[in-house]
Amino acid sequence: MQYDFTTVIDRSGTSSRAVDVIPIPGAQVKEGFSPIPMWIADMSFATVPTIPQAIAKRLEHPLFGYFNPSSEYYDAIIRWQQKRNGVQGLEKEHIGYENSVLGGLISALGVFCSRGDKVLVHSPTYIGFTNSMTNCGYQLIHSPLVLDEAGVWRMDFADMDRKLKEHKIRTAIFCSPHNPSGRVWEPWEIEKAMEVYKANDVMVISDEIWSDLLLNGYHHTPTQSVSEDARQRTIALYAPTKTFNLAGLVGSYHIVYNPRLRDRLEKEASLTHYNSVNLLSMHALIGAYCPEGEEWLTQLRQVLTTNVDYAYDFITTHFPGVTLFKPQGTYMLFLDCTQWCADHGRTLDELLRAGVEVGVIWQDGRAFHGPCHIRMNLALPLSQLQEALNRLDRYVFHPQG
Ligand SMILES: Cc1ncc(COP(=O)(O)O)c(C=O)c1O
Repeated sequence: MQYDFTTVIDRSGTSSRAVDVIPIPGAQVKEGFSPIPMWIADMSFATVPTIPQAIAKRLEHPLFGYFNPSSEYYDAIIRWQQKRNGVQGLEKEHIGYENSVLGGLISALGVFCSRGDKVLVHSPTYIGFTNSMTNCGYQLIHSPLVLDEAGVWRMDFADMDRKLKEHKIRTAIFCSPHNPSGRVWEPWEIEKAMEVYKANDVMVISDEIWSDLLLNGYHHTPTQSVSEDARQRTIALYAPTKTFNLAGLVGSYHIVYNPRLRDRLEKEASLTHYNSVNLLSMHALIGAYCPEGEEWLTQLRQVLTTNVDYAYDFITTHFPGVTLFKPQGTYMLFLDCTQWCADHGRTLDELLRAGVEVGVIWQDGRAFHGPCHIRMNLALPLSQLQEALNRLDRYVFHPQG
């Protein structure tokens, strides 16, 4: 079956944050331009039909009382992880529910840290890490990713090692694939990072929410798979929400092999009594992690690959002074506008506002620790992406042209 990734679906009136909010303070879309949402990490595509079908089927039964996740739910996760990521030996007892990946991150930090502790993250850094960790009283210590000679983002292992020692850090967040850089880590890079963590007696929270969204040619390596030590040292966080555009349905899960960590995490996650799977969200996962879901994902990845190729080629040919790494996973671009702003005597704020004025609703990269950067979401129909890039070309990057 061919799924539809080309229709522009009207999301107005659905309380969609992507559509209703403009994330640039004071910026407004000028009359005559339709807004094109290209910021928050959800997609302008309809999800795979098996998800609403699974929900609708459950709705036929009129009782919605307290319940426990079904064996179908756990089996769907085990099958998915085995098929997609080659995970062996995953059992129901290794899997735990979390209301969200960020919620899981905070529960996991509760296992490993005291409030006020320093935690190692890579920068650029996903805004959700910064906000949730700061809100909960943790200090982020950044180890910057560096662009190598080929323009590929790499971890700086020596810097990680130094910061872990200098700040006496015992917990690290590992984001794989990495948001916002779009890096899909190679197995040797994960092995090396895990060796650095092991050498410093550091426990690891591995956020793998983007692991299904790899562009063609790339492969996800679960952090826990690189060694027995990594398997025991790591709490891994996954969700169907990013892959299948289900953020509004809420739901994620953790995988923990180490029984001691698992017990501690379950305890932490249970403290608020808020952390229980929603019935419809459970059925959404079952409707997602099935053969049709896999086929839909294969087609989605092709669409995202085409969009990334198109945007990368367009930007590198039409917007001199804007540089970027071509993502290997996620659907985000992280544009470095330093040179363009310097060449044109414009600030990043002015540039951000100019984009919004012509309907390109993009996102300030400074919140992700990119000093003069813009984050752009490419999970939208190609026709809309082309329209957005043409407007940027005509009105924003070459206003006189
Ligand atoms: C790396 C990463 N982790 C977590 C999240 C948020 O996940 P959740 O909505 O399940 O908290 C996102 C959303 O964009 C993300 O990019």
